[in-house]
Amino acid sequence: MSLLIAGSVATDHLMSFRGHFSDSLVVDQLDKLSVSFLVDDLEVRRGGVAANICFGLGNLGLTPVLVGAVGEDFAEYRAWLERHRVDCDSVHVSQTRHTARFVCTNDSSMAQIASFYPGAMSESREIELKPIVDRVGEPDYVLIGPDDPDGMLRHTDECRQRGYRFVADPSQQLAFGDGVLIRQLIEGAHILFSNEYEASLIMQKTGWSEAEVLSRVGTWIVTLGARGVRVQAEGVETITVSAVPDVVPLEPTGVGDAFRAGFLAALTWGLGHERAAQLGCLLAVHVVERVGTQEYVLSGEAFLARCEKTYGVEAAADIAPHLRTLHP
Ligand SMILES: Nc1ncnc2c1ncn2[C@@H]1O[C@H](COP(=O)(O)OP(=O)(O)OP(=O)(O)O)[C@@H](O)[C@H]1O
Ligand SMILES: [Mg+2]
Repeated sequence: MSLLIAGSVATDHLMSFRGHFSDSLVVDQLDKLSVSFLVDDLEVRRGGVAANICFGLGNLGLTPVLVGAVGEDFAEYRAWLERHRVDCDSVHVSQTRHTARFVCTNDSSMAQIASFYPGAMSESREIELKPIVDRVGEPDYVLIGPDDPDGMLRHTDECRQRGYRFVADPSQQLAFGDGVLIRQLIEGAHILFSNEYEASLIMQKTGWSEAEVLSRVGTWIVTLGARGVRVQAEGVETITVSAVPDVVPLEPTGVGDAFRAGFLAALTWGLGHERAAQLGCLLAVHVVERVGTQEYVLSGEAFLARCEKTYGVEAAADIAPHLRTLHP
């Protein structure tokens, strides 16, 4: 059995400028705008939803298969992911475009000038899942995260046609997609992931009520930030799992991705929804407590201690046998 994780693969290039952008702008000359800022700092961070989720799964000892499109510049990032047990053999490498890149400069007043280059991501629509499944075996789940919208649609359709269980995780694409696209991405999903805001967007844009969404998916997982997570399914009682308390949040980017990794890992191990939500919350704090989405290292002992403290002895006992590959 295998776990296919489709979605964006990208790097963030973050720079900081000590002054104020506004000091360099001449308001009545904006039609001739040409400015350059000497920046002190360049930080390159690995990201992209699919890569983040794969990193989390790899850290938990699984071997997820990354499904996405990148450029020739992916070599170093590939090596990093492979060192973290991610199977990158089915990644599509574009002949002409670079890997998606977010380039952002902040000034000292946190004003921001940013650009996002999707680049090779648009070629994810050229990826067929069947040859990947032939190579790695029937998927437990295919997660379809934010990516080129045509790519997301193609993967979702292929899952429905071939009967692969799929996980709909449209997150950022919900802001851009219309109701027709969103319905197609969700209909028939085994699991739907969203945060609270995205849950409202889904209902607003599709015109479906909560009950109507639930009738179209197996389970709907709604993450509630520091309040934890709600797990809903048609005809069964809703479960709410609290987040890990006493966290000093440093930077939230990527928490949702880590949550998904924990949740899916637990399901793959055969654990139920409550344990899955707990493992998701435990993994998510490793991201929220750090800057960067792929900067944590899991230590088995500390992880289990936190699990026991937050969710009790039984939860830790259920999860422990699956963490044998982690560093002590
Ligand atoms: N401050 C926090 N303290 C503890 N846990 C947190 C905190 N913020 C987030 N989490 C954990 O992360 C999970 C996902 O958080 P959230 O609902 O904010 O995701 P998100 O909005 O998709 O985030 P993003 O898109 O930025 O990755 C929560 O269910 C919770 O377990
Ligand atoms: Mg999110």
